[in-house]
Amino acid sequence: MIPQVIWPNDMWMHTLAKARELDAKDVLKNKRESFALPNNKIYLDGNSLGPASYAAQTAGQSVINAQWQTDLITSWNVHDWIRLPQIVGAQIAPIIGAQEDCVIACDSISINLYKLLHSALNLQPDRHVVMTQKGNFPTDGYIAQGLMAHRSGVCLVYVDEKDIIAQLDESIAVLMLTHVNYKTGYMLDMRQITQAAHELGILVIWDLAHSAGAVELSLDNDEVDFAVGCGYKYLNGGPGAPAFVYVNSRYHSQLRQPLSGWMGHARAFAFEQDYVPADGINSLLCGTPNIISMAVLKGALTIFNDVNIADIRQKSLGLSAFMVSVIQQHPVLQAFELITDMDDAKRGSQIALAHPDAYSICQAWIEQGVIADFRAPNILRVGFAPLYISYCDVLQAVDRLAYIMQHKTYQAKQYQIRNSVT
Ligand SMILES: Cc1ncc(COP(=O)(O)O)c(C=O)c1O
Repeated sequence: MIPQVIWPNDMWMHTLAKARELDAKDVLKNKRESFALPNNKIYLDGNSLGPASYAAQTAGQSVINAQWQTDLITSWNVHDWIRLPQIVGAQIAPIIGAQEDCVIACDSISINLYKLLHSALNLQPDRHVVMTQKGNFPTDGYIAQGLMAHRSGVCLVYVDEKDIIAQLDESIAVLMLTHVNYKTGYMLDMRQITQAAHELGILVIWDLAHSAGAVELSLDNDEVDFAVGCGYKYLNGGPGAPAFVYVNSRYHSQLRQPLSGWMGHARAFAFEQDYVPADGINSLLCGTPNIISMAVLKGALTIFNDVNIADIRQKSLGLSAFMVSVIQQHPVLQAFELITDMDDAKRGSQIALAHPDAYSICQAWIEQGVIADFRAPNILRVGFAPLYISYCDVLQAVDRLAYIMQHKTYQAKQYQIRNSVT
């Protein structure tokens, strides 16, 4: 690997040797072969959209070309399409440290948050405050705001995410938090916050969009109440993949979610006039599941069958720390401000680099074959998906970033044009 810039103090050879050594020792290194990644691209955006895997592609082809084509509507029974939400939920369960019957795959995070927030508020009739963190992913707040338009008296308060426990009190019905901040990568202490909330009678809903498949989670052991997460980031389920919901078994008999569609009915095919919720987690379903997406996600999840999440986490921390250490060694890269807290217990699987020209730098980096993304107003966001990223990838990506900064190629006109998706 030949560098594009000159690295100070001959550090390139030494760092390259280190990267190669770490890659050689990597217990996950063979997993990269499971992914249909394009050549000559370094993909640092699996925190936004995971790449295609061969297993996902095969599953997609099979559901369209074999099942749908050949078995038509009988596939609902013959290929068990009707149970895919439960089957996929059971695949996700061990990844998030949950019992199988506490997880179901359905809808999107936004819709699932609506269901859970409504249900959780119903369990807290004497409390009227929903608390969330400042800088939470917008959809979480938007959903809470939308729900409040139909529930008079309930209000939403935003608190600093580094000071959540101190802000808790007995007026709060529900604490709705994103575990790993989408922009900064800051990770909250799930167990500690959940415990502190429970001591004051507060229910907690966790958004695991940036956690599931990337960090170790023990929802059952941590006595989490509710959680949502998505299938398209670290779970590699494809664009718009179904999301998932977790409900602790202690609420299964009390849960009343508001989107009372027929798939969540106790006897969907009895076509009864009145809604009767299904038992347990099944009542979280609403309408007909998107079978094609669900089948692709099911295929993608098989990659996790023989993977230890602790190995993923360890490598993720290693990759992000390695990138930061390389960035710190080139003077041109000091133009970035590292926003991410590098304490292992406080970061997820991404780093955030602030720069006033972050958008155009990101575009120039993509042109150089390194795909990351931009989050307004000034963050270059870099995700580490240990199943297919190597230490050598990270080193090469930083070298290309240094090239862009040294030659200011990001200032070219074409990199200033804002795409609709950043
Ligand atoms: C923390 C978080 N929550 C929710 C979402 C999106 O939710 P939905 O699946 O409804 O699009 C994202 C998308 O990136 C996210 O980062």
